[in-house]
Amino acid sequence: GTIVLAYSGGLDTSICIPLLKEKYDYDRVVTVAVNVGQRDEEIDVATEKGKKLADRHYTIDVREKFVADHIFPAIRANGSYEGYPMGTSLARPLIAEEVVRIAKKEKATAIGHGCTGKGNDQLRFDFIIRSAGLEVVAPIRELNLTRDWEIDYAKKHNIPVPVKKDKPWSMDENCWSRSIEGGRLEDPAFHPPEEIYLWTVSPEKAPAKPEKITLSFKNGVPVALNKKKLSGYDLIQKLNVLAGKHGIGRNDMIEDRILGLKARENYEHPAATVILTAHRDLEGLTLTRQELVFKRMVDDKWSELAYKGLVYEPLYHALNAFVETTQKRVNGTVDLELYKGSVRILGRSSPDALYSSDMVSFDSDSIDQCHAIGVSQYFGIQARMVRQMQNKKR
Ligand code: ARG
Ligand code: SIN
Repeated sequence: GTIVLAYSGGLDTSICIPLLKEKYDYDRVVTVAVNVGQRDEEIDVATEKGKKLADRHYTIDVREKFVADHIFPAIRANGSYEGYPMGTSLARPLIAEEVVRIAKKEKATAIGHGCTGKGNDQLRFDFIIRSAGLEVVAPIRELNLTRDWEIDYAKKHNIPVPVKKDKPWSMDENCWSRSIEGGRLEDPAFHPPEEIYLWTVSPEKAPAKPEKITLSFKNGVPVALNKKKLSGYDLIQKLNVLAGKHGIGRNDMIEDRILGLKARENYEHPAATVILTAHRDLEGLTLTRQELVFKRMVDDKWSELAYKGLVYEPLYHALNAFVETTQKRVNGTVDLELYKGSVRILGRSSPDALYSSDMVSFDSDSIDQCHAIGVSQYFGIQARMVRQMQNKKR
């Protein structure tokens, strides 16, 4: 029968093509590469290799859909996991859905993927595939394969090996984030070499002159860069270049995976760092204190579900509905400065600002300060009573 394989052009997914025939008895392997904004050369390699190695290949471009359906919700919910803006986890559900779509079209009842049995991606893919009622085949996990075995097997099958044994980085990218792991990086004490980074320069190589930019937001998402209206995808890619040039958005961390394993992870996400910094700031200007406190809990829960890839969880949709309601007032512009690895807010303004300079200014008398005397009479009254009783006993 036919099996449809989620395909990236990398080592794991490439050796799955012969493995699915040799070890699983499928006679037709259809590969699907999904464009979520990885660099062009990545997509080109996947397309070329898929066409050569598989019986049929599809490359599907979902870049704008990825931004609209997954990155925009992540921006509105200040999506982050253990301190970094997620990336891989945001793209997995959409990639899996596209592969499911092709499986139905090709009348396949099973979907293959190249995830290991140690990471998060297996769970995110399996969830979507099983939700569609299809069978999962995961050769790397089921045959318990190691990278060294994979490299030898690839050579035997004339599959070009993109990773070298001394530089065996496992990488994943989409327009929101790049992740680099594996090889020597698996030693948490190892200092990552400069070459793992492809989108950012190191801060010391960044221009000596700071650069000012303006981001405009509508309903909680960026719609213009330096007053120029852009599609979500174009804005993110322009900002990746701009902020990457200033060395912004690198991350080296120990991450707790879903299974409980700790892993050393390196990331770069220049646009995400800038956009999330600006978005959070604009929320501070436009949301009420009550909304901000409650939304922080919602954002955390949203991020947990997104990290796990549980996008069919009803709670995920309920949280999105809450978040979207709050974002109707998150409009305005934020000026930022990019400089030597960091992004700094210079100023912000909004038609929905809950800020009155007339009320708060020390130079204005539009509020009668005497009204605060009454508040002060009651402020902290219970704690004051306890304190006074304790003072008497001493
Ligand atoms: N640890 C990150 C995550 O769980 C990155 C995973 C990268 N995936 C990969 N196949 N290289 O989202
Ligand atoms: C993998 O296991 O295939 C990559 C790492 C991850 O999924 O977290």
